[in-house]
Amino acid sequence: MVWMDAVIHWVHLMAAATWVGGMIFTALLLNPLLKNMSPEIRMPLIRALGVRFKYAEWGCLAALALTGTYKLSRIGAWGPIFEGSFGAILSLKLLLTAAMVALSLLHSFLWGPGLTVATPGTEDFARLRRRTIFWARVNLSLGLVVVFCAALLRMNPL
Ligand code: HEM
Repeated sequence: MVWMDAVIHWVHLMAAATWVGGMIFTALLLNPLLKNMSPEIRMPLIRALGVRFKYAEWGCLAALALTGTYKLSRIGAWGPIFEGSFGAILSLKLLLTAAMVALSLLHSFLWGPGLTVATPGTEDFARLRRRTIFWARVNLSLGLVVVFCAALLRMNPL
């Protein structure tokens, strides 16, 4: 069981690192680089990268939910784990994760595809782009807070 728990914990960590790390990489390195390219080169690139990242993102989320639920079942009974400081931090972590899922759904299936069919250079395109970038940054910030909550859980064992 120790090996099983270690593998599950590793998958949870790798999924968090891949998802949040992917968002950090995009915000800090990829987007500033793409910003200087012409729309004719940039847009097909963003579209292709977006589709690939979408698969990675949803795979990571599924892995986090599955392994996280397993980890909770190993910690204790469902009622008591939501009590005390551990329960409060866990509830916040799950709430922020749900918000990230909602924002990721909107980004992957509404705002992202909407931006790729808008015409670059128009006011509509600029507005959609601003909105997409703003909420992507909010999502990244939430991801950082979720990982901080995970660190706090470690400091506040049940
Ligand atoms: C989807 C629902 C999730 C559940 C049910 C869940 C549950 C858990 C549990 C029970 C732990 C162990 C806490 C402890 O130390 O006792 C944990 C650790 C962790 N979680 Fe999650 N988690 C979820 C989502 C996420 C997400 C979305 C991220 C990051 C984006 C994340 C990142 C982490 C990290 C980095 C740790 C390791 C903390 C450490 O080892 O010190 N989790 N999670």
